[in-house]
Amino acid sequence: MKLIHTIEDLQRNLTEARAKGEKIGLVPTMGALHEGHASLVRRCVAENDVTVVSVFLNPTQFNDKKDLEKYPRTLDADCALLESVGADFVFAPSVEEMYPEPDSRKFSYPPVDTVMEGAFRPGHFNGVCQIVSKLFAVVEPDRAYFGEKDFQQIAVIRAMVEDLHLKVEIVPCPVVREKSGLAMSSRNTLLTDGEKAVAAHIFGILSKSKNFATNHTLKETRQYVVDSLNAIVGLEVQYFAIVDGGSLQELDSWSDSDDIVGCITVFCGSQPIRLIDHVRYKE
Ligand code: PAF
Repeated sequence: MKLIHTIEDLQRNLTEARAKGEKIGLVPTMGALHEGHASLVRRCVAENDVTVVSVFLNPTQFNDKKDLEKYPRTLDADCALLESVGADFVFAPSVEEMYPEPDSRKFSYPPVDTVMEGAFRPGHFNGVCQIVSKLFAVVEPDRAYFGEKDFQQIAVIRAMVEDLHLKVEIVPCPVVREKSGLAMSSRNTLLTDGEKAVAAHIFGILSKSKNFATNHTLKETRQYVVDSLNAIVGLEVQYFAIVDGGSLQELDSWSDSDDIVGCITVFCGSQPIRLIDHVRYKE
């Protein structure tokens, strides 16, 4: 496995593979890697000839600078994990390498980028599109792998790929969970053990709500999730939206769609840490 810091070096290394017609897979990450990332990389390695993993803490997608400051940075441990799962190249550029000039490009894909995370984190998805479009231009991957934990992010990236007529195939990969049910996230390392135990209730209540939904209305189910989680000390729901899985538009009734997902963001603990998760009611 090679650790590369510049675009020029990465492209030089990929030229040969591309000339041989080899398939290139990309796993974009912001580092602080965990088993969820490892599962994306394993899948990428299995499905492509060359696997590139980018490790870049992208400043333009952090609307809250404090969130950026406290984001864990663990490049040595990340490289050890990536080597163990068979990545070929780790691309870890500096901010200046990716943004020699401030990026003034605007990406706008309403409604998928304006609801939920888009509404609560203004500019977040614009920053995600800025960096992912740059990574796609640099690596020119055949396939790119994203975790379904960031359910809305995948919808926004698909919209961008369609808009820019990119040839890359977006491969969504299932959420990987701790034994407790807590969705794996780099932000979990910022939680104490006690907070992690509390945070596990998010998945617990979402799972219970699937059963609750079988004999309650959509609105009752939404209220059930919000009230149950807010009743737990240490948790505070920012939003819980039950949406169409494609358009991400909020629904009023279970009969409004065949593809229904509940997307949630919850603040956990004293700092507090913002955790996201989702549950599928219908597909
Ligand atoms: O999901 C993430 O970790 C980031 O949003 C991504 C896709 C690597 C872009 O910085």
